[in-house]
Amino acid sequence: MRQAGRYMPAYRKLRQRHSILDLCHHPELAAAVTLQPVERLGVDAAILFADILLPFEPLRLGLSFAAGEGPRIARPIEAVADVERLPSFNLEAELGYVFEAVRLARRALPADVPLIGFAGAPFTLASYAIEGGASRTFTKTKRFMYQAPDTWHLLLTKLAELVGGFLAGQARAGAQALQLFDSWVGCLSPEDYRTYVQPHSRRALQLAGAAGVPVIHFGTGTATFLEDFAAAGGDVISVDWRIPLDGAWTRIDGKAIQGNLEPAALLAPAAERDRQVRDILKRAGGRPGHIFNLGHGILPETDVAAVRAVVDLVHDA
Ligand code: CP3
Repeated sequence: MRQAGRYMPAYRKLRQRHSILDLCHHPELAAAVTLQPVERLGVDAAILFADILLPFEPLRLGLSFAAGEGPRIARPIEAVADVERLPSFNLEAELGYVFEAVRLARRALPADVPLIGFAGAPFTLASYAIEGGASRTFTKTKRFMYQAPDTWHLLLTKLAELVGGFLAGQARAGAQALQLFDSWVGCLSPEDYRTYVQPHSRRALQLAGAAGVPVIHFGTGTATFLEDFAAAGGDVISVDWRIPLDGAWTRIDGKAIQGNLEPAALLAPAAERDRQVRDILKRAGGRPGHIFNLGHGILPETDVAAVRAVVDLVHDA
């Protein structure tokens, strides 16, 4: 999950002097931010500081982050020709700074804290590329998908090859696990997931898995098609709070599971927050193959001390 971020004073301090893209582009800064949550929270693993949208720069889509509004894509994909003319590029040449951040973070982390590399899944990336930014309804994305299915599949094919190779490169640079973020895939019907998305996620996860490290397949809102989501691939299936962990676990074909605290529970009084944490642990029942995590990213309003308290509670349980 996003571990570093605006909820963390040390991160906000760095952000006063550097834009988010600045932090990503400078491997020594990205490595330093990667370490912040490990030191402050005592979490068991570090996730590389980067963003799923970084490949949009070499794709020439024009990426920026507007203060408080999230990502903006200056030249969104609108027409068939926009997909056909997407440039292919050399990963090392264009995104080598991410690989360098992996190497630096790996070197700086304690030996017993694994480093997780990541990328966006084809669907979630396509949704940003087509919407031009965040969306609640994914109207443009779905219109494109239905109106130009061949071009849609071409776009997702290109994105799957790109992120699969990007993930494998991060593993070669030293990432000990990989995570594929399909953050918005839950907006689809089960049938549309199978038709328009699953083959491409499968390809990306297959390319990532070939690198020989465990792969986490992250989604939210996947309760209605969890079997298909899990069947696309990944060694670990990440689920959100909309489904009880134990019920989800019976539906993912024996894979490991990650989740699934409601991020807003970190805003609750300590007693309620801790009750929800204990409930998840009870549903996991001490079985091997559970990664305790939030179901989605930490909200900027969150108190760092509340996150720390949850980490400590999980460790002591
Ligand atoms: O935790 C870490 O240190 C890892 C870094 C990380 C970032 N983005 C940095 C970031 C990770 C793992 C991501 C993934 C990411 N980025 C996802 C998938 C995970 C998820 O939350 O669903 C998505 C959808 C994005 C796209 C993105 N980047 C959005 C929607 C935003 C804006 C959100 C907001 O809160 O305004 C970003 C910006 C971003 N990327 C931030 C961070 C820490 C927050 C803002 C900032 O510094 O201004």
